[in-house]
Amino acid sequence: MENLLTEQINDHLYYIGVNDRQTELFENMWPLPDGVAYNSFLMTGEKNIIMDLVKVNTISTYIEKVQEILDGGDLDYIVIHHVEPDHSSGIKNILELYPNVKIICNKKTAPFLKNFYNIEDNLIIVSEGETLELGNRKLTFYMTPMVHWPESMVSYEEETKTLFSQDIFGGFGTLNGAIFDDQVRFNDNYYSETTRYFINIVGKYASQALKALNKLSELEIKTICPVHGAIWRTNPEKIFNLYTDLAKQKVKDGVLIIYGSMYGNTERMAEAVARGVAKGGITDIKIRDVGKTSFSYLLAEAWETRGVILGSCTYNNNIFPPMSFLMEELKQQKMKNNIWGIFGSYSWSGGALKRLRGFVEENKCDVLDIQPEIQGAADEEELRELIKLGEEMAKAIIAKRELE
Ligand code: FEO
Repeated sequence: MENLLTEQINDHLYYIGVNDRQTELFENMWPLPDGVAYNSFLMTGEKNIIMDLVKVNTISTYIEKVQEILDGGDLDYIVIHHVEPDHSSGIKNILELYPNVKIICNKKTAPFLKNFYNIEDNLIIVSEGETLELGNRKLTFYMTPMVHWPESMVSYEEETKTLFSQDIFGGFGTLNGAIFDDQVRFNDNYYSETTRYFINIVGKYASQALKALNKLSELEIKTICPVHGAIWRTNPEKIFNLYTDLAKQKVKDGVLIIYGSMYGNTERMAEAVARGVAKGGITDIKIRDVGKTSFSYLLAEAWETRGVILGSCTYNNNIFPPMSFLMEELKQQKMKNNIWGIFGSYSWSGGALKRLRGFVEENKCDVLDIQPEIQGAADEEELRELIKLGEEMAKAIIAKRELE
């Protein structure tokens, strides 16, 4: 039978994932300008096995795909690699259609299934390294805690060397007709939507991600089937290496200046700092307005950029609220490889620089000593000090580069 809705991956594995172009914010926080794919896979044989489900808003499209492959047959197993609802909230609809299906999960998954969906029956609990024989198919399970939820695990089919990696190796963006790595153009946008996904969703668990990647590097992998982004059948090492670099927070030489400004004075200070960076010989310089740019992009750029400079105006004797929020999020990321710079401004009493100093001290940041604090608009001497801050940042980046 011709498959019109689904894609064949190998002689017994099908792609039955769906695209979501309606949800504007992933986890209701992270922008999705290019949407997101919820990947799901159906393994056929003596038993029919689904690997992860989809978000409930896409369930009707999904069910059509499941039915195209099953062609009236029954579904025997669902593997839930982790319970986050983008991969599980369609479960009730599937259980209504296939009430005898058994759910394969681990012992940490079971309470989540109960708490989220009141499901506690027909569970098969697997543990680290366990192999299940499911008809004529075999799957081996490995735990990857906190990548991305505590109960996260992956499964591996030895026969075809296929890894079902759940969130690991995923990215934002829908799969537009092309689903395989050799069909998708890995251009700047694809790259940045993959890195933004990792940094936003998994970044704070980077050390656990690195442990998971080390564990998976022991396997011979020919195909990676993640739950978001492309299926890697031709060049799986490309995404493996990218994820390893991201988990190590590999930074590029460059400077990201994030400012908070109400009437433009602090923005002009940021411009002066940037001139100093350029004079110091660094060419990759970005200036971002914290009030306008989603923190999703700011976190991603900060993760990948060696020099990060935060400059903020004062608001009600405290820091500009969007900068306060950004600092909270940056704290969660536990970034270790940046050089930081700070500057503050105020109208009648300070507050911003004090909070920025608190941030760099609390997070044990490697921070430059020069920390300008300016009342109102910067005068000539203050402009020189801001330029000097940029030059010092460039000098520190170049010194670090020479050490490595
Ligand atoms: Fe794609 Fe952690 O869910």
